[in-house]
Amino acid sequence: MKTETTAITWFYACIADDVPENGGVCVKYNDDQVALFHFTRRGEWYATQNECPHRQQMALSRGMIGAQNDEPKVACPFHKKTFSLKTGECLNGDECSLKTYPVKVENGRVFIGVSIELKMVNSDKKIQECNARDDDSSKAA
Ligand code: FES
Repeated sequence: MKTETTAITWFYACIADDVPENGGVCVKYNDDQVALFHFTRRGEWYATQNECPHRQQMALSRGMIGAQNDEPKVACPFHKKTFSLKTGECLNGDECSLKTYPVKVENGRVFIGVSIELKMVNSDKKIQECNARDDDSSKAA
């Protein structure tokens, strides 16, 4: 029996001072681009995918950040679609949305959380497989 679950792993993104006040930077994680924002006026950090889902432009880290009814948001620099920095929801009413990531800052270093899938194999099955291999090797001898 195989069980799958997810966990968060934190990767080091950058030094906090490398992110402009009330602005963003693009951080690479494997083949993904993540937009990291320091909303200094609110004392908050956010991370989203860098790709705008409207026309697939890698541009959100260069977008303007602000608030709409107290909801922190980013506006894509291309066609000004806006997205919640908390949920990724498009605030213009479109279907598209952004993937968001948790952020933590420790000792002036910024970390972004990404989900990883854990696959666990039932230990009873492993024992059965080992026993089967032992049986096969004893037949060959
Ligand atoms: S590419 Fe971002 S709003 Fe169009």
